Amino acid sequence: MHTPEESCPVTQIDPSDIRCRVLPFAILAPSPHNTQPWNVSFLGKERIVLSIDRERCIPGCDPLGRQAFISLGAFLENLDLAAKSFGFHADIDLFPGGWPDGKIVPDTPVAHVDMVEDQRVEYDPLFRQIPLRHTNRRTFRRDKVPLSLAGEITAAYDYSLVPLGFSHDAGLMGAVADLASTAMKIELADRERWRETVHYFRFTDAEARQSPDGFGLAQAGYGKVARFFIGKFFLSRKKAASSPSSFSRLVEKNTRAQAVSAGGMGWLSTKGDFRTDQVRAGRAFQRVHLKATELGLALHPFTQFLADYPEMATLRSSLYEYLGIPDTHTVQMLFRMGYASPVPAAPRRDIHEFLLP
Ligand SMILES: Cc1cc2nc3c(=O)[nH]c(=O)nc-3n(C[C@H](O)[C@H](O)[C@H](O)COP(=O)(O)O)c2cc1C
Repeated sequence: MHTPEESCPVTQIDPSDIRCRVLPFAILAPSPHNTQPWNVSFLGKERIVLSIDRERCIPGCDPLGRQAFISLGAFLENLDLAAKSFGFHADIDLFPGGWPDGKIVPDTPVAHVDMVEDQRVEYDPLFRQIPLRHTNRRTFRRDKVPLSLAGEITAAYDYSLVPLGFSHDAGLMGAVADLASTAMKIELADRERWRETVHYFRFTDAEARQSPDGFGLAQAGYGKVARFFIGKFFLSRKKAASSPSSFSRLVEKNTRAQAVSAGGMGWLSTKGDFRTDQVRAGRAFQRVHLKATELGLALHPFTQFLADYPEMATLRSSLYEYLGIPDTHTVQMLFRMGYASPVPAAPRRDIHEFLLP
């Protein structure tokens, strides 16, 4: 498992190489189910080539790979912040081989990033939040998030192309809570989507130690002892396999409890839904989450009802109606915000596992 403080473990690369110094921060980006779908290679002395690791896509839950592209956007935002903090400009060229089709996940690079030393770049204080930002799945304290904080979050990024919607209206949040648990029910009703979800869920601490991806009860705020008893008596991989519907019911119930405890709901939308929109939304989302962290707010994405498979279409339309989003636009991320104690970090794979030869 990797922490940003460690030096780059790739022996064939000079650890003083700036690319080695920024990558440990880039890989702290969020990704659906913590799949970490990023492939990286180094070209020449200054270029990072970023592409999607298709082996780590989840075609059941994310059939168009939209969420994977959002995750790459978040990765690029972290990389950019880290570059600035080291006095470098990350010159990001998106889709250098031409714009890809919106329905397939390409093997071709998503970005070429040239690291150019430039002492004039301005340090961005959001960089400090990168290791502190974690998806928080606890039940929140129910205190409302003031509108002024939503305003501060909006000011933290270029919102013209990815506007932030926010509400702490009890009626809207109640409606979203209902939809969220129904969305979870629909998500887990399909065998493949259920399998992907369970594959990345860590039922025990031992599983979490063995697989530096996915997430488990620790990221929902359960302590060591609670995790031990839940794993032993209520929730195990074996029990979930022998009774898939009882696992699904538990998750639905939990989703509802999480949703009703929100202090506010936020969403990011784009006018188009091209790959560039998705990457841009990922960069915006990362800045939103980093700013929320700086402001002491917990944040937790709820994205099942944004999924692109046909069974979710009706529920997605209802959500758009509640949020006042025209169906010509795309809600890229929806998340609850509120107040809660922090949770431990979800694991990351070692840097060398992302690096292609
Ligand atoms: C596009 C996208 C969608 C996500 N959707 C959900 C979600 O519906 N529910 C959830 O609990 N977490 C969701 N997450 C959060 C990831 O599970 C989380 O980023 C990952 O486990 C890594 O943990 P971290 O964010 O604490 O680093 C999503 C993240 C991304 C980038």
